[in-house]
Amino acid sequence: MPQSPHNWRSASAKPELVDSFGRTVRDLRISVTDRCNFRCTYCMPEEGMQWLPRTEVLTYEEIVRVARICVERFGVDGIRLTGGEPTVRAHLPVLIEKLASLEVPANADSPLAGKPVDLALTTNGATLALVAHDLKRAGLSRINVSLDTLDREKFIQITKRDELDSVLEGISVARDVGFSPVKVNAVVQRGVNDDEVVALAAFGREHEVEVRFIEFMPLDAQGGWLNNAVVGQDEIVSTIHNVFPLEQLPSRGAAPADRWRYLDGRGTVGVIPTVTKPFCGDCDRVRLTADGQFRTCLFATDEFDVRALLRGGAGDDAIEALLRRAVGEKWAGHSIGQVSFVRPRRSMSQIGG
Ligand code: GTP
Ligand code: 5AD
Ligand code: SF4
Repeated sequence: MPQSPHNWRSASAKPELVDSFGRTVRDLRISVTDRCNFRCTYCMPEEGMQWLPRTEVLTYEEIVRVARICVERFGVDGIRLTGGEPTVRAHLPVLIEKLASLEVPANADSPLAGKPVDLALTTNGATLALVAHDLKRAGLSRINVSLDTLDREKFIQITKRDELDSVLEGISVARDVGFSPVKVNAVVQRGVNDDEVVALAAFGREHEVEVRFIEFMPLDAQGGWLNNAVVGQDEIVSTIHNVFPLEQLPSRGAAPADRWRYLDGRGTVGVIPTVTKPFCGDCDRVRLTADGQFRTCLFATDEFDVRALLRGGAGDDAIEALLRRAVGEKWAGHSIGQVSFVRPRRSMSQIGG
């Protein structure tokens, strides 16, 4: 009996999705909400943000369907949940449980072939102390927490919320309930927190978390980004190295962070150098926004409307075809700092970080 195209695929063809530059998609970043309980200046205005109407936000069933297609048909082996702030979405552990049950196909070209996907979350940490246990129990494996300063006044200045202690407690509880690794993301801005690079590095060493310093990117909602507000990777690394000597670790693969180890053995530190050393050539990421738009780059100016297919009764083959078309059109990379750079229409909290 002739096999259907779908049976044929699952029986023999390797599940994969490769773009026109030869980069294989392995990582799906899913924004579960555009809402947030902070108002970080590099991301959102303090007032006046227009939230998506709830009907426009994908349901958990819709999210899981897209994720399943990516895992089963493309061999995606990593899923990261982002926001806005993902923990403000009700019943997040329900989604985590469903996604954690997705298995990377046995014939996928992945170290996780035949195993569950690597499921991670990026959070501002404000409610982490309260929810970490439930997230862990639901099957989440890794957590990255944003923390840009250890100074309470500066924390309020950056996030517009007095929540430094909750975030610090959240990081501690995340470690206690067994998340490993816990990473800390710090966006460095000239004149705002560039004087805290060493203090944040020391925090990472003391609390056994990997701190990753992030170069400020032109994705703030206010359009206030300026090149001279960026603190570059070389400066960040030499500032730390002068106090805590470092040695660079070999190739980062497709990950956004370059990594160093402390020569005294007290852990590692990373830098995400989007502006001064773009890493687009090795990118393996695609994104799904909270309102069901598929993006092949953080800075993409085009989006592909998966929600219309999901809600229009399309089958999995049609959704697969749209995602393949999007990835087929993925560009080589962003052009921040060049005249050709065009800011995406949406800002960080709406895209998903
Ligand atoms: P790990 O899997 O733990 O390495 O996570 P991650 O670094 O991919 O995720 P996280 O959400 O912690 O992101 C850290 C920073 O990297 C954020 O500021 C992201 O916006 C940024 N980032 C993630 N993916 C990309 C990307 O494709 N391009 C650029 N330029 N930045 C990215
Ligand atoms: N530039 C760099 N990083 C940013 N983030 C949010 N906005 C920006 C920006 N404009 C970071 C957050 C969080 C992650 C999801 O993205 O701090 O760590
Ligand atoms: Fe919220 Fe994250 Fe944006 Fe800060 S960076 S306002 S925590 S979505």
